[in-house]
Amino acid sequence: MGLVNTKEMFDKAYRNNYAIGAFNVNNMETVQGIIEGCKELNSPVILQVSSGARKYAGHKYLLKLIEAAASETDIPVALHLDHGDTFELCKNCIDGGFTSVMIDGSHLPYEQNVEITKDVVQYAHKYNVTVEGELGRLAGVEDDVNTPDEKSFYTSARQAKEFVMQTGVDSLAVAIGTSHGAYKFKPGHKAFLRFDILEDIQKNLPEFPIVLHGASSVIPELIEDINSYGGDINNASGIPEDMLHKASQMAVCKVNVDSDLRLAMTAAIRKYLALNPKEFDPRKYLSAARESIKSVVKHKIKYVLGCVGQA
Ligand code: G3H
Ligand code: 13P
Ligand code: ZN
Repeated sequence: MGLVNTKEMFDKAYRNNYAIGAFNVNNMETVQGIIEGCKELNSPVILQVSSGARKYAGHKYLLKLIEAAASETDIPVALHLDHGDTFELCKNCIDGGFTSVMIDGSHLPYEQNVEITKDVVQYAHKYNVTVEGELGRLAGVEDDVNTPDEKSFYTSARQAKEFVMQTGVDSLAVAIGTSHGAYKFKPGHKAFLRFDILEDIQKNLPEFPIVLHGASSVIPELIEDINSYGGDINNASGIPEDMLHKASQMAVCKVNVDSDLRLAMTAAIRKYLALNPKEFDPRKYLSAARESIKSVVKHKIKYVLGCVGQA
């Protein structure tokens, strides 16, 4: 099947109370691991490319890898630009075969976020490309966003409705307490998400797909493996799976995961090389990395996203 946009995926996900995994990709083994996992569980998937990934691997290489992956399966596969920060970047991706783009104007003043998002929507929709916007700020652990009393970073449910009406976006990323990376909550702080805000957003925007960025669980077993085989990652923490599962049954239709895949790959490679010190064939340790990614993706599909058999 060719690549698809996210419209039908999200309509179906919303109606049936599940979410779709949006996995960041940088290389062939990651693409293959994700697609294999999704194929085995017959699940739709979004493969997303950040501007950093695009610089690392090259637009054409990633496009061709993902087209190859999609051509060998009947599951719906969308190719999405993650955190597009300019109109030009979004336009390049739309012109260059992406089926979905994110324009992230969340750091801009509200009016400027509306303007740039509207421009991208207008261009993208001419080519049947779907657009994700963002409102609110996903902060790092240092910003104190992840404490129950912090208000300034969270998405306002009232503004979310206004933003969607003014821009025409197809989905909206919101800030309810998640953050990027492997250090989401300060040591000693319990994981905390503002489900009350998510509920208000859902009331204000019925049947509208919401996106959760920074949604890795920072899987403890992977951290343990990394540290057992020479790594040094301390005080890492992520979003508990039950919270992500709850959000997936609500308005959240897209759950973004990058850090867990990075951890899966690193853990597998560290372990393989530590246990096989004489080995130097990259195909050996990259096969282990690919398997590890596949297994993380399958776990998420079954226990977090709830989209088994929904392709
Ligand atoms: O949200 C950010 C993603 O994890 C992409 O990260 O910009 O390092 O590729 P990156
Ligand atoms: P994580 O760092 O939690 O994996 O989030 C990834 C993400 O939001 C990509 O846009
Ligand atoms: Zn993100």
